[in-house]
Formats: sequence, structure tokens, C-alpha cells
Amino acid sequence: MRRHNIAAIPADGIGPEVIAAGLQALEELSRRDGGFELSVTTFDWSSERYKRTGSLMPDDGLEQLRQFDAIFFGAVGAPDVPDHLTLWGLRLPICQGFDQYANVRPTKILPGVSSPLAGVGPGDLDWVIVRENSEGEYSGHGGRAHKGLPEEVGTEVAIFTRVGVTRIMRYAFSLAQARPRKLLTVVTKSNAQRHGMVMWDEIAAEVAIEFPDVAWDKMLVDAMTVRMVKNPKSLDTIVATNLHADILSDLAGALAGSLGVAPTGNIDPQRRYPSMFEPIHGSAFDITGKGIANPVATFWTAAQLLEHLGEKPAADRLMRAVEKVCGDGILTPDVGGSASTQQVTDAVCEAIRGSNI
Ligand SMILES: NC(=O)c1ccc[n+]([C@@H]2O[C@H](COP(=O)([O-])OP(=O)(O)OC[C@H]3O[C@@H](n4cnc5c(N)ncnc54)[C@H](O)[C@@H]3O)[C@@H](O)[C@H]2O)c1
Repeated sequence: MRRHNIAAIPADGIGPEVIAAGLQALEELSRRDGGFELSVTTFDWSSERYKRTGSLMPDDGLEQLRQFDAIFFGAVGAPDVPDHLTLWGLRLPICQGFDQYANVRPTKILPGVSSPLAGVGPGDLDWVIVRENSEGEYSGHGGRAHKGLPEEVGTEVAIFTRVGVTRIMRYAFSLAQARPRKLLTVVTKSNAQRHGMVMWDEIAAEVAIEFPDVAWDKMLVDAMTVRMVKNPKSLDTIVATNLHADILSDLAGALAGSLGVAPTGNIDPQRRYPSMFEPIHGSAFDITGKGIANPVATFWTAAQLLEHLGEKPAADRLMRAVEKVCGDGILTPDVGGSASTQQVTDAVCEAIRGSNI
């Protein structure tokens, strides 16, 4: 029996609701498969903990997580705690501390889910966005001087390193190479940002030589938003900086029907540390506690987690179950249905039990 140790951090808002749904599906998959078991340890690290103790996670948080095979994360953010404190207090220290430099965000239109784009259905939009996840605009460099005075200054410095850009380009090119279309779009802003972004472009061209079978092109980030909307079929694998991909992947989620169906994996490709899997969405204060959070993004990221742990048949089974349930019209309100989180989860679990492959 293969055994995988999972750290679950449901955290804030709808995080606990969708992580409970994801864990229910994972347990069902383990039973259905029979070849692996999951040992799940749940941590209460959250904004509630911050309000109680002054920190979102303990000082030795990373040490505690290091022994796990993967991390299953909900969402962090509370209406009464500043967002930069919550993000930098929990999610970013894990991503950066474990050098999870590749943030992988698959997006496609699931059966039964409609895109806001007219005439675009399943098969017309099938992308993977690779987000540089360790540096760039979110490197945390900068500061403020003369706080509160008229001459106050704030700087936010984007850091691009040759090591950081080369490794994310290699990851993106090899992911593109593994997909049937072997097509990569490198997003940039080197017209306006003439240092780090020009280096980004140059390194993309250097790495491309290692992947002669991958067709690639380059798009300015502003033009990219237009292409995603006007010509989604022309895209397949996309690589972008931390900030650019953060924004583009929310757009991708919306174009695929809802943020509630968009997953992400924060991957350490060298497997020195546990990778972290989470839905893209945040705490969603407006629907917290209503029992209507869409669990599909969390199921999809659970499938990424299983694949990362070598459980590809279970990952595929989970995605087939999700596609069946969505196709049957069992959907939460954000994608036009009236089902609750629990009803969608129960239907997915039933589809897992009933699957004969
Ligand atoms: N990775 C993270 O932990 C993460 C990501 C984004 C935002 N946040 C935090 O979450 C809080 C709220 O941020 P926001 O409102 O900008 O983004 P959000 O993703 O929480 O919500 C945006 C909109 O999408 C809807 N939505 C999101 N997930 C959904 C789901 N699963 N099912 C149905 N509808 C869903 C929400 O109801 C809301 O209308 C903030 O504190 C922010 O910092 C955290």
C-alpha cells in the first residue's frame, strides 16, 4: 500500500468548505483505487489564528510542513485583516520557503459550464498557464520612506534573475512539449520594461533552442488579454511573470466560466520540498458559510496533487467524475446551477464509486 502524507491548511472564508469537499473526494478515490492511502493532518493556520496569537502560522511552520508529501491549501484572507499581512503571513512564505517556483494553472471549459465568450465551448479553450512563482514583482523587495509625510516614497522592485527565469522557461517549454499541440506563448512587457523583461525575452529565446519541436511566440501582456478573449483557440501553454500570470489566470478562470473552477499547483519541480495545491480563488467573503462555494477548483487541484504524487489513474478518475457531474448539470450557482457544495461533492463521490475504469 502506497502511503501519502498530506498537510491540509483550509485557512479562511470558503477555504474550510472547499477543502472538506476535496478531502471527501480524496478519501473516496483512495477507497476506489485500493492501492494508496492518504494520511491527512489538518492545521488551523489562518486569520483567526492571527487574531488570537498575532501570527498566521507558528515560527517553525515550514519545519512542520517539510515532512509532508504535499500541502492541500484552501484560501487566506479576512475582511478585518489587511490582505498583505495574510498573504505574506501564510501563503507566500510557504511558496517562497519551499521554492515552489512553478505555479501551474490549467484552465479549460468543462462540460455543462458555459463560457461568457459567445460561441466558445469545451475544446475551444484548453490552456495551462505557468506562473513564475518565486521572484518577479512579488519578490518582496522595496520599502517606504518618510511615511505619512507629503514626500513619502514607496518602492516595489521587480527582481528577475537568470537562474529564476531560465528554470521557469525550461519548465514551461517542457510542459508545452508534453502537451499534444507543443505550443508555448511567452508573455512579456519588454516594450515598456526595458531591463528585467528584455532579459526575460532573451532567456526565452535561449531556452527555446533546447526545445526545437515546440512552436513558440511572444505576446505583450496587454495584447495577451485581447488574444485570450478574441482567439482562445490560438493558445495552449502560456508562461508569464508572477504578476502577469496572476492577473491573466483570473481572466482565464472567468473565461472558463468561473473562478470557482480554476485550480493551481505551486510546484517545486526538483521535489526538494512539498508542493502545494490550492484553488485559485480567495476566501470569497460574499458566499462564506452559505454552502454554495464551487468545489470544482479544489477537486481539480486535488487531481494535480494526486498526479504529482504519482497517482495518475486516481487523478484521471477524479477529473472524469468532475466532468460527468458538471455535464449532468449538477452545478453551483456561480456556474448557473442551484446545487450546494455538498450536493456537487456527493455527486462526484458517487461518480468515483460508479466508475468502471
Ligand atoms: N490564494 C489565496 O489564498 C487568495 C487568492 C485570492 C484572494 N485571496 C483573498 O481572498 C479575499 C477575497 O478576495 P477577492 O474577493 O478578491 O477574491 P475571491 O476569489 O475570494 O472572490 C472573487 C469572486 O469570486 C467568487 N468566488 C470565488 N471562489 C468561488 C467559488 N469557489 N465558488 C463560487 N464563487 C466563487 C466570490 O464569491 C467573489 O464574488 C481577500 O482577502 C484576498 O486577499 C486569497
